[in-house]
Amino acid sequence: MFQSVKPAAPDAILGLNEAFKADSNATKVNLTVGIYANAEGETPILNCVKAAEQKLLAEESTKRYLGIDGHPQYAKQVPDLLLGAGHAAIAADRVVSVQTPGGTGALRVAGDWLATTFPESTVWLSTPTWPNHPNIFAAAHVETKSYPYYDTQKNEVDFPALCDSLTKVPANDVVLLHGCCHNPTGADLTVEQWQEIAAILKARQALPLVDFAYQGFGEGIEEDAAGLRILATELDELIICSSFSKNFGLYRERVGALTVVAGDAAAASAVLSRLKKSVRANYSNPPSHGASIVSTVLSDDSLRTMWLEELADMRTRIQSVRGQLASIVTAMDFPGDFEFMNRQRGMFSLTGLTPDQVQRLRDERSVYIVNNGRLNLAGLNEQNVQYVAESIVSLLS
Ligand code: LMR
Repeated sequence: MFQSVKPAAPDAILGLNEAFKADSNATKVNLTVGIYANAEGETPILNCVKAAEQKLLAEESTKRYLGIDGHPQYAKQVPDLLLGAGHAAIAADRVVSVQTPGGTGALRVAGDWLATTFPESTVWLSTPTWPNHPNIFAAAHVETKSYPYYDTQKNEVDFPALCDSLTKVPANDVVLLHGCCHNPTGADLTVEQWQEIAAILKARQALPLVDFAYQGFGEGIEEDAAGLRILATELDELIICSSFSKNFGLYRERVGALTVVAGDAAAASAVLSRLKKSVRANYSNPPSHGASIVSTVLSDDSLRTMWLEELADMRTRIQSVRGQLASIVTAMDFPGDFEFMNRQRGMFSLTGLTPDQVQRLRDERSVYIVNNGRLNLAGLNEQNVQYVAESIVSLLS
């Protein structure tokens, strides 16, 4: 049977790590996968996480299965972080949350639930989007379509085209929006634009699904949630797929959540029962450790303060290398405008390099970025920023 198996293409993002590891060039730079690295190029465990782990090691008393939906305390803390504690929807018991293995797990559980409960609904994805979005929904047998998002000439959100497309979305279709730090463009929506989108989706009776993997990496924990909070206030129903991979640095612990806001408490409870069915058929119940860490940090005032400071340090460093890269390129007599890098937020921006140029960047300079031209700015530091800037400019000029 297995003789007929054809090898699959490497993953568009994670697959690049193999090529990077195999490169023997001492000046190689990895700007592919969205992992934060500090000024020394390392990804250490956050101090708040280490402290929470020590506490857990001393206090954890069992390794029994968690419930299908995960830690009960976590399921309460996540909506507070997303919507703000005391949000009217939380107070009215209209919000349910299940712990998932990362944001990817949340998207997959959402996809499985949509496929079984709303098989006619199509999910609309931004162009461009995270390359794994189409994979996840295809695996869940959910149809996807695209709406325009980014103007590659102006390096900003193409808001007129986006609105024009959303006004044609049929009722009961799902529109996936990136809550902040749009992946791969780094171009985010303003508060006014979120309000306009909320009005369009309401008029179309379409359902927003917010992919929220970078809370705290843009402007701050509260600021980054502004868009999804507008949706949660203006619309009765909303899906949020969130992750603690980046903002807690818990990548390999796989900790995320699928949160649903429903029209009333009875609908929310019915949705939760459906989500649990999807989870049970998928991975039965989630792993405990990562969510225990998050829950411990969020419920301890001093650990929470430590976390917010460590998160602010990561955010500030990324913004500073954005500025450095933009000014180095600008000072090089670069014919185009690179200042947009400084206006964008989060780990990613599009360089404008074509797939052929990305390949040359890899082959000739050992600088690794994703084929769509996306670079992870969090991988830049004093040692490599000049080299990366020169490498990009040499190909774009
Ligand atoms: C990325 O976009 O690089 C991250 O979200 C990691 C991943 O799983 O692709």
